[in-house]
Amino acid sequence: MKLLSLTTVSAFLLATASAAPHPSGPIAWDSAYEKAEAIVSKMSLEQKVGLATGKGWEKTLCVGNTFEATDPDFPSLCLQDSPIGIRFGDNVTAGVSAITAAATFDKDLLYRRGAYMGVEARGKGVNTLLGPCVDPMRAPKAGRAWEAFGEDPYLNGVGAAETVAGIQDQGVIATAKHFYGNNQELNRKNSSSDISVRAVHEIWTWPYARAVDAGVGSIMCSYNQLNGTWACEDEYALTTLLKGEYGFKGFVQSDWGAQMSGAKSANAGLDMTMPGDIVMGDGLSWWGANLTKMVKDGEVKEERVTDMATRIAAAYYKMRQDEGYPEIAVNSFNRTEAPYVNVQGDHAKIVRELGAAGLVLLSNKDNTLPLSKKIKSIAIVGSDAGPNPDGLNPANCADHGCDNGTLAMGWGSGTVDYPYLVTPKDGIAKRAGKKVDIKYTFEDWDLEKAAETAKDADVAFVFSNADAGEEYISVDGNVGDRNNLTLWHNGDNLIKAVADANENTVVVIHAVGPVLMPWIDHPNIKAVVWPGLPGQESGNSLADVLFGDVNPSGRLPYTIAKDESDYNTDHDPNFNVVYSENLNVGYKHFDAENIEPLFAFGHGLSYSTFKYDDIKVSTSKKEDNMAKVSAKITNTGKVDGHEVAQVYVGFPEGAGEPPRLLRGFERVFLKKGKSTSVSFSLSKMDLSIFDEDKNDWVVPDGEYTVYVGASSRDLRLNATFTLSK
Ligand code: BGC
Repeated sequence: MKLLSLTTVSAFLLATASAAPHPSGPIAWDSAYEKAEAIVSKMSLEQKVGLATGKGWEKTLCVGNTFEATDPDFPSLCLQDSPIGIRFGDNVTAGVSAITAAATFDKDLLYRRGAYMGVEARGKGVNTLLGPCVDPMRAPKAGRAWEAFGEDPYLNGVGAAETVAGIQDQGVIATAKHFYGNNQELNRKNSSSDISVRAVHEIWTWPYARAVDAGVGSIMCSYNQLNGTWACEDEYALTTLLKGEYGFKGFVQSDWGAQMSGAKSANAGLDMTMPGDIVMGDGLSWWGANLTKMVKDGEVKEERVTDMATRIAAAYYKMRQDEGYPEIAVNSFNRTEAPYVNVQGDHAKIVRELGAAGLVLLSNKDNTLPLSKKIKSIAIVGSDAGPNPDGLNPANCADHGCDNGTLAMGWGSGTVDYPYLVTPKDGIAKRAGKKVDIKYTFEDWDLEKAAETAKDADVAFVFSNADAGEEYISVDGNVGDRNNLTLWHNGDNLIKAVADANENTVVVIHAVGPVLMPWIDHPNIKAVVWPGLPGQESGNSLADVLFGDVNPSGRLPYTIAKDESDYNTDHDPNFNVVYSENLNVGYKHFDAENIEPLFAFGHGLSYSTFKYDDIKVSTSKKEDNMAKVSAKITNTGKVDGHEVAQVYVGFPEGAGEPPRLLRGFERVFLKKGKSTSVSFSLSKMDLSIFDEDKNDWVVPDGEYTVYVGASSRDLRLNATFTLSK
């Protein structure tokens, strides 16, 4: 047996604590700055440079570590992926991806997800967690869109704010990334995202502004260029916009190897170079001794370096990391020196809850779901229902760069190793119990066997998936971004074969984003279930919904189109990736062009039905509540459940906005027959547009329409109000 040191034991106790916030949470920036200024004023130039410089790729236990200072003492900070938990950590939780957390449309769940990740990061001695990722999905094929919260900036903004608060309430610095325009993997390290100033504000940096409002300690600048300037040396992006307009008080760190210059990036507002190398692993650095020299040569002012160090120290003090912090317990790059610390606590419970709440029931004919108690036999078809066929379960190929067995997260740096993975087949079998006969096959290419397995069952489940990830890994020829929107592993043929054989077919798809569904009108397909990327509890969360223990309420955080050509955005092979769609991203394009989606943004069914009435709107001059909207919702069905009420705003004509923008949502629980009133406050920001001529946010004068409904295309109520100066 391994002997545990005292520090390990105390770290263990701390780490297994529940997700209750750090005793009194982070302190205010002003107080954090006082402490930071006091220590940084005693530091030499070299020490300040050290705080801003990483020690190099694969040199330390974390994916990034800064240099420590001695006399005055300031520790080396550990920066570790990922937006989903602790990458390269053992005894950690591998939960639902952000795209699935977004599908819950539930602020409290988003917060609690951030909080358990914060507990785990702290327990593992991670000072700065490299998440959340808050880049809205532009191209449906974009490899990393599943790391963030879907196609809408408002939804990403809520995801950003709740996740940042959850993480930082545990005393861990959160990192919102990748600032900005990092919306495809294709050519991510050399293309330029060319975006209008208005779309920069209203879409692409909106979620970052909400992260700043939530007090985020760090922001990571991205690999790509912005209108021809590298993001990590773009003074407009980092200083004018982020630190100026948005009032960001923390530090900007570079993405790994995204820094392209020494003095230029320093002067533009970059505060920390990660992992410290020029090219990852080369042992050279733009900063370190070179930054000291640049100050001595007059290329960079010392006060800029003082500002870098102060911002870094302020984030550290804000999270109260000076009050004792666990030692590093992650073993990146197969190192083995970190102590044993298990941080899992009871986090599996919230992961299971999130997985069920984030499952979207896309269609459900003849009340096929939940499964009737009379069901005697179930067929399960498809490799996506089972374990890794290599016999490895959990399926932890390096950074998840494979698509073997059931899919529960994408690939790349935004991953976590599974401690275990409950497969759909195991989850269903366990819940069904011994009295139900279960037949299954995981062979995707043997269509005869699929039909044979399915044909006599009371209900046949057919599983398929579509995977994506980061560009340094390519899976089945997909270099990060997906090559197409079709299902993997013969999925379309498999679904058709099962549906031809069984008139009670239920399709289950684990996917990183939208897929095409050429089989959708098959009369035997009675339901389509969309669990997204549920993480380690996959099969249990799924069974909870299939058997009716949980009434589904998940909503699509992106649009599923009938045809690929219905989308107006794709990953772009050109050097200049021109965001010509401007504000019409996702459902806004479908609304503007009157294109009927297959499944709309915000869509998701329940086993119950809900009635909306009694919309009321009032206005005031208060900036945080310029318009107040309320509506009554009644559960008119036969079962208790959650409803996600969504608010969309139509701006005055002439404001130049798409037809409707999401500006609020509430997930409410209602017992059958019961009603409740939901209310939404629309702030000045919610009702503003970015006026490029004035270079400022303005609330346009005129008539606004507010819609309350169950999806972006199921708008049950509307009302108007007028605003004027
Ligand atoms: C990714 C970041 C990640 C970093 C460190 C980069 O390739 O873009 O999201 O945090 O690596 O692993």
